[in-house]
Amino acid sequence: MSQIATLILDGESHDFPVIVGTENEPAIDISTLRARTGLITLDQGLGNTGSCRSAITYIDGERGILRYRGIPIEQFANGPNFIEVAWLLIFGRLPTSDEYAGFARELTHQANIDEGMKHHFDSFPRKAAPMAILSSMVNALSCFHPEFLELDSPEKFWAAAARLMSKIRTIAAFAYRHSRGLPYMYPDPNLKYVPNFLHMMFSMPYDHFICDELVRDAFNLILILHADHEQNCSTSTVRMVGSSRANLFASCSAGISALWGPLHGGANVAVLEMLQKIHEGHLTPQEYMRLAKDKASGVRLMGFGHRVYKNFDPRAKLLGQIAEELLPKLGKKDPLLDIARGLEAIALEDPYFVERKLYPNVDFYSGIILRAIGIPVNMFTVIFAMGRLPGWIAHWWEQNQSETRIARPRQIYTGNGLTDYTPMPGRGRTPAATEG
Ligand code: ACO
Repeated sequence: MSQIATLILDGESHDFPVIVGTENEPAIDISTLRARTGLITLDQGLGNTGSCRSAITYIDGERGILRYRGIPIEQFANGPNFIEVAWLLIFGRLPTSDEYAGFARELTHQANIDEGMKHHFDSFPRKAAPMAILSSMVNALSCFHPEFLELDSPEKFWAAAARLMSKIRTIAAFAYRHSRGLPYMYPDPNLKYVPNFLHMMFSMPYDHFICDELVRDAFNLILILHADHEQNCSTSTVRMVGSSRANLFASCSAGISALWGPLHGGANVAVLEMLQKIHEGHLTPQEYMRLAKDKASGVRLMGFGHRVYKNFDPRAKLLGQIAEELLPKLGKKDPLLDIARGLEAIALEDPYFVERKLYPNVDFYSGIILRAIGIPVNMFTVIFAMGRLPGWIAHWWEQNQSETRIARPRQIYTGNGLTDYTPMPGRGRTPAATEG
């Protein structure tokens, strides 16, 4: 039986349908609210707002569940590689072996970037943040591949998706090489997605980087665990920009910018900085926790808390396990892992964190693994972006294929009432502090 939600306003009743998703999650459909009542809703941070219907990823934050196209995230831990999962997210089902091989071939074929594009890297300052370069260069793909500005067939979308998936990896590696003043290493067609990326990051013209299988598998899993997370800040940005019918490259470039922030993908850098500070003795774990609980300090326990998860983030669980397993296998001991474990243990017992249901999120352990692999801290969020790309592409296409209207929220205006323009001479003196 379908449910109805009734809003009583000034004694008048207005009925709204309650719709339910696949997993019975209910929502009040208020699409006709303003037309019928003149009212809008106010939901800062959009924590109570479903912005779309989507068939890509399911999360149950109370139970710590994450599924891609219905498949639990845990089932990706020991099997498929990132490209297979990317295909699943983008095209809606697991690929056949032919489909997988064809897509992988196209990724290899498209790995080079236009030589003209390569010169753009040289004009960025050496100290430029790789995320800024990544966002700019992904947008620049719109200039170099104008044939993909309109994706009017599934075949064209397939080709654009493969191109973007392949080239983001080259762009990311070149951004790193530029920041270090190292020669750009061209992609090697004999290598698969992850080893090829690490080759472009770490090989030298006279010394070919050999990718350890353990490293390859851990890196694949990191990318897989970041691949989609439904309507998070960056994905919502991609959909918001895409709703204006902006092209795939421009929309994903906007997603990269959104991901950069320290409350989103940039948190993996902030976690490492936090652990490093404690390690260098600037603060004890207890002092840091005291600051994190004191609102006035402006400090947060980075890598903890999540808008949706009110239980363990399943990705953090898997990443914590990988960190424990990988470091000894690589013969590495990282004191930051011990500090992270210590902070986690304190937080899981502390009423402040327990009452607010704050648990480790995906960023808490990912940086420790990337560090063990030899990835520099300023590349952490770039790696996150490479991982999240298939999710952005999938959401962009899903929206593109639906009847969605341009995203255009409303607001509650809180500024001046009607005010007359005052000509310059009648405005009095500028307050001293801002004069000049
Ligand atoms: N440390 C200390 N206190 C926290 C933390 C934290 N990490 N996270 C939330 N809180 C507190 C808030 O101060 C607030 O307390 P109050 O109820 O007394 O006012 C309460 O918990 C709820 O927090 P909100 O900020 O309302 O939660 P929101 O859903 O808006 O934010 C967010 C989620 C941004 C992830 C937040 O938990 C946070 O800042 N975490 C640290 C940054 C981080 O790790 N970000 C990565 C998130 S995962 C990702 O984006 C890939």
